[in-house]
Amino acid sequence: MEKLNLLYEGKAKKVFTTEDADVLIVDYKDDATAFNGLKKGTIVGKGAINNRMTNHVFKLLEAEGVPTHLIEELSDRETAVKKVEIVPLEVIIRNFSAGSFAKKMGMEEGIKFLCPTLEFSYKNDDLGDPFINKYYALALGLATEEEIETITKYAFKVNEVLQKYFDSLNLDLIDFKIEFGRYKGQIILADEISPDTCRLWDKDTHEKLDKDRFRRDLGNVEDAYKEVFKRLGIH
Ligand code: TMP
Repeated sequence: MEKLNLLYEGKAKKVFTTEDADVLIVDYKDDATAFNGLKKGTIVGKGAINNRMTNHVFKLLEAEGVPTHLIEELSDRETAVKKVEIVPLEVIIRNFSAGSFAKKMGMEEGIKFLCPTLEFSYKNDDLGDPFINKYYALALGLATEEEIETITKYAFKVNEVLQKYFDSLNLDLIDFKIEFGRYKGQIILADEISPDTCRLWDKDTHEKLDKDRFRRDLGNVEDAYKEVFKRLGIH
């Protein structure tokens, strides 16, 4: 399978068309941004780690009944995926307080919740991805009620599977963001699951092993990505 034309370039990935109208090739970059692109940098080796980690995790999720856009890993950085229409909602699940939640609620980070939370952001860079609820999404026609139900069900399932999986790697899944797409009338998981889009803390030391090291200038950014990748055991 070969790249034809550049369809879209995002902050962390390029997306190319192929000869098959239903198939795209995603090419993961080492570029990193934070705060809606205000902070820019490079995390050497990130593209390959995020590509391979996403595919590994998507395979686990497929086996547990969550459909994904994954078709085939083509190289360290490139993957063939089903061409979806992205639902413009960022779906965020949290198991522990951290980040914007901790700030908003005036809480310290790392407090385990009684049950997971789910929230939506409207995927819109000009607006800085504002927090919205299901009723905003319905009123604006961002998704149908049935789609939101499916997305919610899959998001909690992803959390269940990933919490167990990361636990086995001695990592706490603090929170994560996922995106879904429409493909031939079905909702499927798209985008990526990586240290860019998850907060992962070592269970014993509580060391942050994710993009917060870049966002907050904590140092050892590359090492954190490598450590997560090493624990996946996919060489
Ligand atoms: P938050 O605490 O900043 O709202 O982030 C929640 C989770 O979502 C965290 O795991 C990081 C992830 N995330 C993204 O993947 N992309 C984003 O643009 C933001 C703001 C957060």
